[in-house]
Amino acid sequence: MKANIVLLPGDGIGPEVIRAAQKVMDAVSSKFDHQFTYSEHDIGGCSIDAHGTALTDEALVACQKSDAIMLGAVGGPKWDDPTAKVRPEQGLLALRKGLGTFANLRPVKPHPDLLDASPLRPERLGGVDFVVVRELTGGIYFGEPRERRQLESGVQAVDTMSYTDAEIRRVAHLAFKLARARRSKVTSVDKANVLESSRLWRQTVSEVAKEYPDVKLEHILVDAAAMFLIQRPASFDVILTSNMFGDILTDEASVLTGSMGNLPSASLGDGGPGLYEPIHGSAPDIAGQGIANPIGTLLSMALMLRYSLQLEKESQAVERAVEKTLSSGHRTKDLANSGETALNTKDMTALIVERI
Ligand code: IPM
Ligand code: MG
Repeated sequence: MKANIVLLPGDGIGPEVIRAAQKVMDAVSSKFDHQFTYSEHDIGGCSIDAHGTALTDEALVACQKSDAIMLGAVGGPKWDDPTAKVRPEQGLLALRKGLGTFANLRPVKPHPDLLDASPLRPERLGGVDFVVVRELTGGIYFGEPRERRQLESGVQAVDTMSYTDAEIRRVAHLAFKLARARRSKVTSVDKANVLESSRLWRQTVSEVAKEYPDVKLEHILVDAAAMFLIQRPASFDVILTSNMFGDILTDEASVLTGSMGNLPSASLGDGGPGLYEPIHGSAPDIAGQGIANPIGTLLSMALMLRYSLQLEKESQAVERAVEKTLSSGHRTKDLANSGETALNTKDMTALIVERI
């Protein structure tokens, strides 16, 4: 098949992991006889430097016209001034909104050989296999008003957490459908004991659940969820939650896999191209050293093959290549125990390409 893929390398280690993804995509296209064409655009800090905005209209339109988008990461200390008018993260939020990708899927399934790389005791990690469905285009990251106000008593800053029932319903349907193809359990996470938007969330999710009588639904509060993710992570199947709670809980959940560098994500809407990115961010501390773990990005690419290009066999080939490379004992620096040799991004990628 032919597919037109937009690459948005972005900032920090973004370009390093996107190069790795391109190598593996090339291996997939030659092995399975596909034609992937790439076009590349700036996003985040590099776009601010080059164009004065974190996402140009041209880049957004190219993404909207594509079959799928692979993104590296945005942000870094250079653009971190809290008083700055333009911020790298605005580019990512505008892209998600502009593509209508309201559901962000973040699967968490530790590789059996990496259990000792996690800070949790290995016996806690047996059977861990869940996916977080994070609402991605609403909630407090988008609510209005968002502003600073000069009061007589000082400065006040305001963000708004808001959800409509329609926004909750569409992402809930996606979570229940996903659960049906898995172990048929949805855990909805909110803060309904305090927040009005969470009470609407809980009520709406319960209504949607009636259409899926075969799926078990439980509600838990986000503070308890943070604890249960460590205490009994194997009890989860699909975790459905709002934008900010999902952002926070998935960083926490990622360390169950040994490293944040392993975790992929897929952002999906109603038709239209999907957006695929590792969850790790730009990692300025190691940027430019060529030592980033490419696995989160490669597994995101596998999700792209599955969800946007409907290439299930190819997707599994990438997932298996990653699995086998880890089973053979190869590790990047974030995964290596002391004394183990750590591979750089290029060498790790080459070993994965060999196994495609
Ligand atoms: C993520 C990131 C982003 C988010 C940032 C960079 C805006 O943390 O994808 O989890 O908060 O969504
Ligand atoms: Mg995050």
